Amino acid sequence: MKVEDSQVGLLQFLQQSPTPFHAVANMSAVLEEASFERLDLADAWSLQKNSSYYVLRNDSTIIAFKTGNAILAEQGFRITGTHTDSPCLKLKPQPDVVNHGYAQLGVEVYGGALLHPWFDRDLSLAGRVNFQNADGSLEATLVDLRDPVAFIPSLAIHLDKTANDGRLIDKQKELPPILLQLDADEKFSFDEFLLHHLQEKLAKKDANSVLAHEIFLYDTQAPSLLGLRKQFLASARLDNLLSCHIALDALVNCDNNYASVLVCNDHEEVGSVSAAGAEGPFLKSVLQRMMEAESKSNDDFDRAIQNSVLLSVDNAHGVHPNFAEMHDSAHQPVLNGGPVIKINANQRYASNSHSIALIKSLCNRLGIKHQSFVMRTDLACGSTIGPITAAALGISTVDIGIASFAMHSIRESAGIEDVQSVNSVVQAFFNR
Ligand code: CO
Repeated sequence: MKVEDSQVGLLQFLQQSPTPFHAVANMSAVLEEASFERLDLADAWSLQKNSSYYVLRNDSTIIAFKTGNAILAEQGFRITGTHTDSPCLKLKPQPDVVNHGYAQLGVEVYGGALLHPWFDRDLSLAGRVNFQNADGSLEATLVDLRDPVAFIPSLAIHLDKTANDGRLIDKQKELPPILLQLDADEKFSFDEFLLHHLQEKLAKKDANSVLAHEIFLYDTQAPSLLGLRKQFLASARLDNLLSCHIALDALVNCDNNYASVLVCNDHEEVGSVSAAGAEGPFLKSVLQRMMEAESKSNDDFDRAIQNSVLLSVDNAHGVHPNFAEMHDSAHQPVLNGGPVIKINANQRYASNSHSIALIKSLCNRLGIKHQSFVMRTDLACGSTIGPITAAALGISTVDIGIASFAMHSIRESAGIEDVQSVNSVVQAFFNR
């Protein structure tokens, strides 16, 4: 991966993937380009050795894999896991709200969003819409309005003298964005607007009613390289589309010697308990189907798992120079300091000394610096798909990630050099 090419592709991917649905569609396009064959969960599969495939669940979780030519029971699976979702605001099913002549949208908070940065942003809307055609058939499509169509204005400081003193946000009251100012007696229906958009902009001429949608707000500000020496990458959804892009590139470019698997799960930010989430059966069922293509013996799957490793890639907290005391003094990963190995005694991260040693040896062999993160003993630790997948499969796992600032903000930042180094580590992990 040349750094320049990767930067252009990465920035485009981040901007063009405002929702998990769009991220999965864009990853699918990359895989098609690389001659991965698309599978359908509802079909019978006949997998071949030395081949490349991918499969979706709910349009928002994707598993891509190379079958390699090694014996699975003996060599196992090399699995890398990430997630496609990011904390944000999601439209309520009947979002129409009118106040003082302004058409607004009712929203829920998806995941652990840092809410203050959502105010005074140029927001747009994207997601999935399910609709009925004139002949009664059902269809679904992705939408992305792209234009800044909504905003959540702050309250002026003159009307809230304590605004700079740690003001709380009333989520139900303060978050509905403004979409437009209505003329006297004008009515607005978001579903009617969506239907018109489908018919006029997406050439869905036969659409005659919107039945359901999963639509998210997002910031239209483009990703950028930031800082006097452009050492930083700023974007929405770096957690965890950055890892998705890096790991996808590593899978596409790795050798097809071993069974290499990439799983990018939806619903990590809300606990992973869903059909498409890491606690659902998707990954296990795909691994079992890979196994069945090679062996009917009952214990071969367990043998393969015992010989497998999961590399869970998700962003880490870089030490913030203004808040260094929030990190343990001996574990202060910095941006552009190389992959961060994440460890937690209470298994909020799944790294164990075997899997940590493996990653450190890969980094050492590649000449790549590595860092470690452990939470302060008096703070609760976040988690990843790592422990959930480890528990579901019984697979040895290591949690790593890129050090970042402002995790779960509408605009996060990370070190641009880490993109290349983590990409190299993931590719070496697949090839080892
Ligand atoms: Co994450």
